[in-house]
Amino acid sequence: MSSSASRSPALERNRYFDALANTPGLFWLGQNTNHMPAHPQVRAAMIRSIDAGEFNAYAPPLGFEALRRAITLDLGAPEAEALVTEGGVSALAMICRARCRPGTTLVTTDPTWKWPCLFARQQGAEVIQIPIYGAEHGFRLSSAALAANVDRRTAIVYLVDPNNPLGIRYTREEIEAFAEIARGVGALLVHDCTYRDFADGHFPAIHAAPESAVVTLSFSKWLGLAGLRIGALVAAPALFEEFASHATSVLGASVIAQRAAEAGLSVKAEWMAEVRAADRANKQRIRDAASAVPGLALPVFPSHGNFLVLETAEAGVRPEALVECYRRQGIMIRQGSYHTERFGDRFVKVSTSVPEPWVEKFCALLPAMVGEARALNDLPPQF
Ligand SMILES: Cc1ncc(COP(=O)(O)O)c(C=O)c1O
Repeated sequence: MSSSASRSPALERNRYFDALANTPGLFWLGQNTNHMPAHPQVRAAMIRSIDAGEFNAYAPPLGFEALRRAITLDLGAPEAEALVTEGGVSALAMICRARCRPGTTLVTTDPTWKWPCLFARQQGAEVIQIPIYGAEHGFRLSSAALAANVDRRTAIVYLVDPNNPLGIRYTREEIEAFAEIARGVGALLVHDCTYRDFADGHFPAIHAAPESAVVTLSFSKWLGLAGLRIGALVAAPALFEEFASHATSVLGASVIAQRAAEAGLSVKAEWMAEVRAADRANKQRIRDAASAVPGLALPVFPSHGNFLVLETAEAGVRPEALVECYRRQGIMIRQGSYHTERFGDRFVKVSTSVPEPWVEKFCALLPAMVGEARALNDLPPQF
């Protein structure tokens, strides 16, 4: 590595992920990605698209009409409009660009998904994070806490549901109450539903407040398309127009990814039944392994996401040390500080939508990794 590169935080971060991506056979248990073998129809759709040379042309700027329709139908909101984006993250960036400016606030939980906080700050907005980690909060946002933190400055209430990393999900009544509170101060409720397909009884906010809520979606997690970069936002027509006018990705999203997404939606019920069964079994394996190691704890079980928070503090283990020990074994898990400065020293996060042998190896190594991590002090930076 050149000396100029080693002084660049941006390059350091990039090289961290480049090293992971180029580790042969790495077990990806850190980013909630889905590593189950692709559904044959999804694979076939991608190959058909490649064989037809569809990638030589641009896709329609807001997504193929058939895919847009399939997305709104899948969400049970056929009267709404879907805007297809390069990952859910681009939808969130677009929304923040549309609504955040100096003098406004984005109100969210702690922990939350951190990137929309960055997008809000880039626009000059202030970010307010409401602590929800801990039994005293029940690991969830309450209406009272939300009401106490919004005012006329609030541009966006950003709710990750199921919450990443905690895996709690909100009820219909809670979502309706949050939507009412946001509407009361003229704020937009951004309901990040990236993990909704792993949850029981999920209720998208667009059903509660179509004029003041937007849903963001991802094909990275349930369908396993993270590297293809495809997601969407779903909103009522007026909001859709507003967000579309703030798009920067004006030449559309990947055509191959869109064909894969459309094929995925057509087999979703069958596919998710399989994925969720594997995911549930993996969660149970991790629970059994963790319960055999004194001090480890799973504060939210079962999680409604394809991941679990594993608390390490009582075991005398720094999350970063455990992450590093597993990295040396070819397994990526995530340090809590990726999600939250305030609570990040308490936990690691482990993804569960992966092949069974990956979780078996994680579990078999757990006692030894905890022992090694206790003695590990010199740690390279983690991102
Ligand atoms: C809560 C949340 N929202 C959005 C995303 C982004 O998903 P995508 O890969 O579709 O950009 C993630 C990815 O980890 C996430 O955890």
